[in-house]
Amino acid sequence: MNPLERHEIPGRVSAIAGKGGLPALHVETPASIAVIYLHGAHVASWDRRGEPPVLFLSEASSFEPDKPIRGGVPLIFPSFGAREGQPFHGFARITTWDLTESLALEDGSVRLRFTLPGLKDQTASFVVTVGESLRMELTATNHGTADFTFENCLHTYFTIGDIHRTEVRGLKGVTYHDQPSGSQRVEENDSIRFTAETDRIYQNTDAATVIADPALGRTIVIRKSGSRSTVVWNPWIEKAKRMPDFGDDEYLRMVCVESGNVREHAITLAPGGSHTLAVEIAACPLE
Ligand code: BG6
Repeated sequence: MNPLERHEIPGRVSAIAGKGGLPALHVETPASIAVIYLHGAHVASWDRRGEPPVLFLSEASSFEPDKPIRGGVPLIFPSFGAREGQPFHGFARITTWDLTESLALEDGSVRLRFTLPGLKDQTASFVVTVGESLRMELTATNHGTADFTFENCLHTYFTIGDIHRTEVRGLKGVTYHDQPSGSQRVEENDSIRFTAETDRIYQNTDAATVIADPALGRTIVIRKSGSRSTVVWNPWIEKAKRMPDFGDDEYLRMVCVESGNVREHAITLAPGGSHTLAVEIAACPLE
Protein backbone atom coordinates (compact mmCIF):
# COMPACT_ATOMS: atom_id res chain seq x y z
CA MET A 1 0.00 0.00 0.00
CA ASN A 2 1.21 3.50 -0.84
CA PRO A 3 2.09 5.00 2.60
CA LEU A 4 0.33 8.20 1.57
CA GLU A 5 -2.99 6.43 1.12
CA ARG A 6 -3.70 6.31 4.85
CA HIS A 7 -3.72 10.11 4.80
CA GLU A 8 -6.28 10.34 2.01
CA ILE A 9 -9.59 12.03 2.82
CA PRO A 10 -12.38 11.28 0.31
CA GLY A 11 -13.24 14.39 -1.70
CA ARG A 12 -10.44 16.37 -0.01
CA VAL A 13 -7.00 14.72 -0.11
CA SER A 14 -5.77 12.24 -2.74
CA ALA A 15 -2.35 10.66 -3.12
CA ILE A 16 -1.15 11.12 -6.71
CA ALA A 17 1.91 10.52 -8.85
CA GLY A 18 3.00 14.06 -9.62
CA LYS A 19 5.24 15.19 -12.46
CA GLY A 20 8.30 13.00 -12.91
CA GLY A 21 6.38 10.32 -10.97
CA LEU A 22 7.18 12.11 -7.69
CA PRO A 23 4.64 11.39 -4.92
CA ALA A 24 2.29 14.27 -4.22
CA LEU A 25 -1.01 15.19 -2.59
CA HIS A 26 -3.91 16.69 -4.48
CA VAL A 27 -5.94 18.80 -2.06
CA GLU A 28 -9.46 20.03 -2.86
CA THR A 29 -11.51 22.41 -0.79
CA PRO A 30 -14.64 24.40 -1.67
CA ALA A 31 -12.47 27.52 -2.09
CA SER A 32 -9.25 26.26 -3.65
CA ILE A 33 -7.12 23.40 -4.97
CA ALA A 34 -3.46 22.68 -4.21
CA VAL A 35 -0.82 20.17 -5.24
CA ILE A 36 1.92 19.50 -2.69
CA TYR A 37 4.93 17.27 -3.35
CA LEU A 38 6.70 15.26 -0.63
CA HIS A 39 9.90 16.32 -2.44
CA GLY A 40 10.73 19.47 -0.50
CA ALA A 41 7.23 19.50 1.10
CA HIS A 42 6.80 21.68 -1.93
CA VAL A 43 3.50 23.48 -2.52
CA ALA A 44 3.65 23.44 -6.32
CA SER A 45 0.27 25.02 -7.04
CA TRP A 46 -2.53 26.80 -5.25
CA ASP A 47 -5.52 27.76 -7.37
CA ARG A 48 -8.56 29.56 -6.10
CA ARG A 49 -11.54 28.15 -7.96
CA GLY A 50 -12.39 30.09 -11.13
CA GLU A 51 -9.27 32.27 -10.89
CA PRO A 52 -5.81 32.15 -12.50
CA PRO A 53 -3.18 30.24 -10.46
CA VAL A 54 -1.84 32.25 -7.54
CA LEU A 55 1.52 30.46 -7.54
CA PHE A 56 3.78 30.42 -10.57
CA LEU A 57 5.26 27.07 -11.68
CA SER A 58 7.83 27.02 -14.49
CA GLU A 59 7.03 24.94 -17.58
CA ALA A 60 10.73 24.05 -17.63
CA SER A 61 10.97 22.92 -13.99
CA SER A 62 12.79 19.72 -13.10
CA PHE A 63 10.81 17.14 -11.20
CA GLU A 64 13.72 15.02 -10.05
CA PRO A 65 14.70 13.81 -6.57
CA ASP A 66 18.01 15.70 -6.45
CA LYS A 67 16.83 19.00 -7.95
CA PRO A 68 14.55 21.73 -6.60
CA ILE A 69 11.21 22.43 -8.23
CA ARG A 70 11.22 25.83 -9.99
CA GLY A 71 8.12 27.64 -8.82
CA GLY A 72 5.49 27.22 -6.14
CA VAL A 73 7.00 27.48 -2.66
CA PRO A 74 10.56 26.13 -2.35
CA LEU A 75 11.16 25.65 1.35
CA ILE A 76 14.59 27.04 2.22
CA PHE A 77 16.11 25.56 5.36
CA PRO A 78 18.52 25.42 7.21
CA SER A 79 20.56 27.85 5.08
CA PHE A 80 19.84 30.56 2.53
CA GLY A 81 22.08 31.01 -0.51
CA ALA A 82 25.56 29.53 -0.68
CA ARG A 83 26.81 28.04 2.63
CA GLU A 84 29.65 25.62 3.19
CA GLY A 85 28.51 22.04 3.63
CA GLN A 86 24.99 22.72 2.29
CA PRO A 87 23.46 22.67 -1.18
CA PHE A 88 22.43 26.17 -2.36
CA HIS A 89 19.40 27.29 -0.27
CA GLY A 90 19.73 24.25 2.04
CA PHE A 91 18.89 20.56 1.81
CA ALA A 92 15.20 20.77 2.79
CA ARG A 93 13.97 21.65 -0.71
CA ILE A 94 15.61 18.57 -2.22
CA THR A 95 14.65 16.15 0.56
CA THR A 96 11.60 13.91 0.60
CA TRP A 97 9.57 14.94 3.65
CA ASP A 98 7.20 12.63 5.55
CA LEU A 99 3.49 13.35 5.59
CA THR A 100 2.45 12.81 9.20
CA GLU A 101 -1.10 14.20 9.41
CA SER A 102 -4.04 15.23 7.24
CA LEU A 103 -7.14 16.88 8.64
CA ALA A 104 -10.38 18.20 7.13
CA LEU A 105 -11.35 21.24 9.18
CA GLU A 106 -14.88 22.39 9.93
CA ASP A 107 -14.57 25.55 7.83
CA GLY A 108 -13.91 23.39 4.74
CA SER A 109 -10.14 23.86 4.71
CA VAL A 110 -7.60 21.04 4.81
CA ARG A 111 -4.46 20.89 6.92
CA LEU A 112 -1.43 18.73 6.15
CA ARG A 113 1.63 18.29 8.34
CA PHE A 114 5.02 17.28 6.99
CA THR A 115 8.19 16.49 8.94
CA LEU A 116 11.77 16.65 7.72
CA PRO A 117 13.80 13.45 8.10
CA GLY A 118 17.58 13.46 8.54
CA LEU A 119 17.95 15.91 11.43
CA LYS A 120 19.71 14.62 14.53
CA ASP A 121 19.17 17.00 17.43
CA GLN A 122 16.45 19.14 15.86
CA THR A 123 13.04 18.67 14.29
CA ALA A 124 11.39 20.65 11.52
CA SER A 125 7.71 20.48 10.66
CA PHE A 126 5.78 22.20 7.90
CA VAL A 127 2.03 22.68 8.24
CA VAL A 128 0.04 23.75 5.19
CA THR A 129 -3.59 24.85 5.44
CA VAL A 130 -5.45 25.07 2.14
CA GLY A 131 -8.74 26.96 2.03
CA GLU A 132 -9.85 30.54 1.36
CA SER A 133 -6.19 31.44 1.90
CA LEU A 134 -2.97 29.44 1.83
CA ARG A 135 -1.29 29.28 5.22
CA MET A 136 2.14 27.77 5.78
CA GLU A 137 4.01 27.32 9.06
CA LEU A 138 7.57 26.11 9.33
CA THR A 139 8.56 25.19 12.88
CA ALA A 140 12.07 24.25 13.98
CA THR A 141 12.77 22.90 17.45
CA ASN A 142 16.13 22.33 19.08
CA HIS A 143 16.25 19.11 21.12
CA GLY A 144 20.03 19.16 21.46
CA THR A 145 22.31 20.48 24.17
CA ALA A 146 24.01 23.15 22.03
CA ASP A 147 22.61 26.24 20.29
CA PHE A 148 21.18 25.65 16.80
CA THR A 149 21.52 28.46 14.25
CA PHE A 150 19.67 28.36 10.93
CA GLU A 151 18.17 30.47 8.16
CA ASN A 152 14.78 29.83 6.61
CA CYS A 153 12.66 31.23 3.80
CA LEU A 154 9.43 30.38 2.02
CA HIS A 155 10.68 31.28 -1.45
CA THR A 156 7.23 31.88 -2.92
CA TYR A 157 6.79 32.36 -6.70
CA PHE A 158 3.64 34.30 -7.63
CA THR A 159 1.83 34.34 -10.97
CA ILE A 160 1.37 37.83 -12.36
CA GLY A 161 -0.04 39.02 -15.70
CA ASP A 162 2.78 41.36 -16.70
CA ILE A 163 5.94 42.20 -14.74
CA HIS A 164 6.11 45.63 -16.38
CA ARG A 165 2.84 46.64 -14.73
CA THR A 166 3.30 44.85 -11.40
CA GLU A 167 4.03 46.67 -8.15
CA VAL A 168 5.08 45.29 -4.76
CA ARG A 169 4.05 47.46 -1.81
CA GLY A 170 4.73 47.53 1.91
CA LEU A 171 8.52 47.93 2.09
CA LYS A 172 8.97 51.72 2.03
CA GLY A 173 11.68 52.85 4.47
CA VAL A 174 13.13 49.33 4.83
CA THR A 175 16.89 48.82 4.35
CA TYR A 176 17.82 46.18 1.81
CA HIS A 177 20.86 44.43 0.46
CA ASP A 178 20.85 44.81 -3.31
CA GLN A 179 22.38 41.54 -4.52
CA PRO A 180 23.27 42.50 -8.13
CA SER A 181 25.28 45.58 -7.03
CA GLY A 182 26.32 44.33 -3.59
CA SER A 183 25.21 47.62 -2.03
CA GLN A 184 23.06 48.50 0.96
CA ARG A 185 20.10 50.78 0.23
CA VAL A 186 16.89 52.07 1.74
CA GLU A 187 13.62 51.57 -0.13
CA GLU A 188 12.37 55.04 -0.95
CA ASN A 189 9.29 54.12 -2.93
CA ASP A 190 5.78 53.19 -1.89
CA SER A 191 5.82 50.65 -4.72
CA ILE A 192 8.64 48.54 -6.11
CA ARG A 193 8.49 48.36 -9.91
CA PHE A 194 10.49 46.05 -12.14
CA THR A 195 12.71 47.25 -14.97
CA ALA A 196 15.80 45.02 -14.55
CA GLU A 197 17.08 42.03 -12.57
CA THR A 198 15.77 42.54 -9.04
CA ASP A 199 17.25 40.57 -6.16
CA ARG A 200 16.85 42.35 -2.84
CA ILE A 201 17.00 41.18 0.73
CA TYR A 202 14.89 43.57 2.85
CA GLN A 203 15.89 43.25 6.49
CA ASN A 204 14.31 43.90 9.84
CA THR A 205 10.75 44.01 8.54
CA ASP A 206 7.68 42.09 9.60
CA ALA A 207 5.42 44.10 7.27
CA ALA A 208 2.74 42.52 5.14
CA THR A 209 3.42 42.96 1.42
CA VAL A 210 0.97 43.42 -1.40
CA ILE A 211 1.43 42.51 -5.05
CA ALA A 212 -0.73 44.76 -7.23
CA ASP A 213 -1.29 43.12 -10.61
CA PRO A 214 -3.50 45.21 -12.92
CA ALA A 215 -2.99 42.80 -15.86
CA LEU A 216 -4.82 40.03 -13.97
CA GLY A 217 -6.96 42.54 -12.04
CA ARG A 218 -5.76 41.03 -8.80
CA THR A 219 -4.11 41.88 -5.50
CA ILE A 220 -2.14 39.26 -3.58
CA VAL A 221 -1.57 39.94 0.10
CA ILE A 222 1.27 38.20 1.97
CA ARG A 223 1.07 38.36 5.77
CA LYS A 224 3.81 36.89 7.90
CA SER A 225 4.99 36.34 11.45
CA GLY A 226 8.23 35.02 12.89
CA SER A 227 10.04 36.60 9.94
CA ARG A 228 12.45 39.57 9.82
CA SER A 229 13.50 39.23 6.15
CA THR A 230 11.59 39.70 2.89
CA VAL A 231 13.29 38.87 -0.41
CA VAL A 232 11.99 40.28 -3.69
CA TRP A 233 13.30 38.55 -6.81
CA ASN A 234 12.81 38.61 -10.55
CA PRO A 235 15.68 37.23 -12.69
CA TRP A 236 14.86 39.40 -15.76
CA ILE A 237 16.11 38.63 -19.26
CA GLU A 238 19.76 37.50 -19.04
CA LYS A 239 19.49 35.48 -15.84
CA ALA A 240 16.30 33.81 -17.11
CA LYS A 241 18.27 32.67 -20.18
CA ARG A 242 21.03 31.24 -17.97
CA MET A 243 18.62 29.19 -15.83
CA PRO A 244 18.14 25.72 -17.40
CA ASP A 245 14.89 25.06 -15.54
CA PHE A 246 13.17 28.35 -16.37
CA GLY A 247 11.72 29.55 -19.69
CA ASP A 248 13.38 32.55 -21.37
CA ASP A 249 10.17 34.59 -21.26
CA GLU A 250 8.79 33.36 -17.94
CA TYR A 251 10.27 36.32 -16.03
CA LEU A 252 7.37 38.33 -17.51
CA ARG A 253 4.76 36.33 -15.59
CA MET A 254 6.31 35.77 -12.15
CA VAL A 255 7.66 37.55 -9.13
CA CYS A 256 9.05 36.06 -5.93
CA VAL A 257 8.17 37.66 -2.62
CA GLU A 258 9.89 35.50 -0.01
CA SER A 259 9.39 35.53 3.76
CA GLY A 260 11.99 34.27 6.18
CA ASN A 261 15.00 34.96 8.34
CA VAL A 262 18.29 35.22 6.51
CA ARG A 263 21.88 36.43 7.02
CA GLU A 264 22.03 38.76 10.06
CA HIS A 265 18.51 37.66 10.93
CA ALA A 266 19.39 33.98 11.11
CA ILE A 267 17.66 32.36 14.10
CA THR A 268 19.56 30.88 17.02
CA LEU A 269 17.63 28.45 19.19
CA ALA A 270 18.92 27.64 22.65
CA PRO A 271 18.45 23.99 23.78
CA GLY A 272 14.71 23.34 24.04
CA GLY A 273 13.87 26.39 21.94
CA SER A 274 11.41 26.51 19.07
CA HIS A 275 10.65 28.97 16.27
CA THR A 276 7.74 29.23 13.84
CA LEU A 277 7.80 31.12 10.55
CA ALA A 278 4.19 31.61 9.38
CA VAL A 279 3.02 33.01 6.05
CA GLU A 280 -0.55 33.52 4.89
CA ILE A 281 -1.38 34.31 1.28
CA ALA A 282 -4.70 35.72 0.15
CA ALA A 283 -5.87 36.97 -3.24
CA CYS A 284 -8.66 39.41 -4.03
CA PRO A 285 -9.78 41.62 -6.93
CA LEU A 286 -7.68 44.76 -7.47
CA GLU A 287 -9.45 47.81 -6.04
C1 BG6 B 1 16.63 34.11 -4.39
C2 BG6 B 1 18.02 34.68 -4.31
O1 BG6 B 1 16.13 33.95 -3.09
O2 BG6 B 1 16.68 32.85 -5.02
C3 BG6 B 1 18.58 34.78 -5.73
O3 BG6 B 1 17.98 35.96 -3.70
C4 BG6 B 1 18.53 33.41 -6.42
O4 BG6 B 1 19.91 35.26 -5.68
C5 BG6 B 1 17.10 32.91 -6.35
O5 BG6 B 1 18.94 33.55 -7.76
C6 BG6 B 1 16.88 31.56 -7.02
O6 BG6 B 1 17.72 30.60 -6.49
P1 BG6 B 1 17.69 29.14 -7.08
O7 BG6 B 1 18.74 28.36 -6.36
O8 BG6 B 1 16.31 28.59 -6.84
O9 BG6 B 1 17.98 29.28 -8.57
